[in-house]
Amino acid sequence: MDRTEVKETAYPTTLRAQFRRHLPQYLVGTLTLAVFQLAMNRIDWQSKAAIDRVFGPDPATAWKPAAVMLALALGAFLARVASRWFMFNAGRDAEYELRHELLRKLHQLGSAFYRKMPAGEIMSRSTSDLQQVRMLLGFGVLNLANVLFAFASALQVMLRVHPGLALACLLNLPLVTVISRSVSRGLYLRMRDNQAALGRMSDVLQANLAGVRVVRSFALEDRERERFEAENRAYLDASLALARLRGSLAPTIGAVASIGILVFFWYGSTLLLRGPEHGGISQGAFFAFWSAFARMTWPMIAVGFALSVVQRGRAGFARLRDVFDAEPEVVDGPRPAPARVEGELSVEHLSFRYGARAVLDDVTFRVAPGQSLAIVGRTGSGKSTLAMLLARLLPTPPGAVRIDGVDVCELPLQAVRAVLGYAQQDAFLFSTTVSRNIGFALDDAESGPAQARVREAAREAQVLEEAALLPEGFDTVVGERGVQLSGGQKQRIALARALVWEPTILILDDPLSAVDAKTEGAILDAIERQAARRTVLLVTHRVAAAARCDRIVVLDEGKVVEQGTHDELVEAGGIYAAFAEEQKMASELEELDAAPEVVAS
Ligand SMILES: Nc1ncnc2c1ncn2[C@@H]1O[C@H](COP(=O)(O)OP(=O)(O)OP(=O)(O)O)[C@@H](O)[C@H]1O
Ligand SMILES: [Mg+2]
Repeated sequence: MDRTEVKETAYPTTLRAQFRRHLPQYLVGTLTLAVFQLAMNRIDWQSKAAIDRVFGPDPATAWKPAAVMLALALGAFLARVASRWFMFNAGRDAEYELRHELLRKLHQLGSAFYRKMPAGEIMSRSTSDLQQVRMLLGFGVLNLANVLFAFASALQVMLRVHPGLALACLLNLPLVTVISRSVSRGLYLRMRDNQAALGRMSDVLQANLAGVRVVRSFALEDRERERFEAENRAYLDASLALARLRGSLAPTIGAVASIGILVFFWYGSTLLLRGPEHGGISQGAFFAFWSAFARMTWPMIAVGFALSVVQRGRAGFARLRDVFDAEPEVVDGPRPAPARVEGELSVEHLSFRYGARAVLDDVTFRVAPGQSLAIVGRTGSGKSTLAMLLARLLPTPPGAVRIDGVDVCELPLQAVRAVLGYAQQDAFLFSTTVSRNIGFALDDAESGPAQARVREAAREAQVLEEAALLPEGFDTVVGERGVQLSGGQKQRIALARALVWEPTILILDDPLSAVDAKTEGAILDAIERQAARRTVLLVTHRVAAAARCDRIVVLDEGKVVEQGTHDELVEAGGIYAAFAEEQKMASELEELDAAPEVVAS
């Protein structure tokens, strides 16, 4: 199967459907398993023939069955390899496809889902739970099928040789099954504990990695180490408990099975001594029986183990279903993508709530193509929520947001995102190079033209010089979430990423919060140049930035309280005017503070 061609739509996400999907592989695998066990059965019979000839009148002919045995052994080997190949591959293919599907689904799901399911949980589902499912679909299915064939193949030899002996030897079979089942239950529980302990340890580790600076700045390394130590020890204990039980399984089964072996040697050897002429068995039959009997032992152990694998796989799959069955909040609209977009953005009666909490209330405004609009408001007034609703990163109510008069909910998400460029407030960087972070949205980020665009965007975002000064320039890897960069650098790289996309409508959520006044001025110049070519929506709490936009909307507790140009709003003497006054005084104070130093130097 071509691994790159996983279907994008309606991928089967039930266990049964998975099974059906890989049915050909399972059928071939089952067939080769049957061939393998059949060959093993024939080998037993050939060994009987060979030994009987050795003890018979013409020992020189014993090579013939021996040669057949050799050929059969080769065939058995090939069949066994093939069965594993097909069955294990079915499991691996299913794992690969399910993981692919998992990421696709995770891309669709919105913040409501991620609030319920933390990153650690998602990670454990996409790694260890998926692994359990693979074990079920590969190892589990293979062993269950193998057990059936192995029993049939061995039993045929044993019953044909001597039904009474077969019955006697298998008297302890129910006991073996009971033990392996009860041990497998214990195994299941301990494996679950083990997985949970691993999860908790990884959680502490992950939190410490992500918050390494916080931990260090509060000098809490010792406390965190102790916390980690406790989880690490718990994991060790759980692993040891599991290992003890797992280690005792084979010896226990072996001990019980040895009762059968005892019966075999006691009863079997009486039959052997009696000889076939007097109702007993021949040397060859004795050996063939023994060989078939021995072949049963592993499948007996494996039944219990395979059953536990199946249980774990089903449990793992149930956890995957939590993701697969989650409903995405934001879905594609039915209309085709528009051929050309002018960039008019209108918001009408937009209200939004997070659960019971109302955040936006009847917001209405309009930005003409090529115009710029500033959204100003106190912290928590709903600015970022508004920006995300425009980009359909949250479930936008139908009819509330229109691009060129078309409801964004009617459009395919791809079309909306192709038109809208969005730089989020908390700049997120991937753990890759500066260049790839900026060119993230470009198809061929390594190509010459793309590189030129990356540099141009970096220049516009005022980060070109600093990026060039990094140890490896634009090829410097920024570290996990950009730890190696300053807050302002991160922010400007994220800004460059939005600019490089050259969207018709550009939404910038507070891109200036972490830069100094001089850089802010330069970026505002760039944004102004951008605004000449496209519609710009600038979320900011800086009056200096807002003043340079064509219009300003003031949000307060989710409501539009003022709307107009800078001059109009200052004139009106409302919240915006108060902001302007506050910020003017603050900057004058700063200048006063700075002045003596200027004189002194
Ligand atoms: N995912 C969420 N779930 C629940 N409430 C949220 C969520 N995100 C934001 N809020 C709440 O919604 C309100 C508006 O948040 P928002 O981020 O839109 O404010 P903001 O104007 O961007 O603030 P700031 O200037 O600090 O960035 C806040 O009170 C916040 O606590
Ligand atoms: Mg915000």
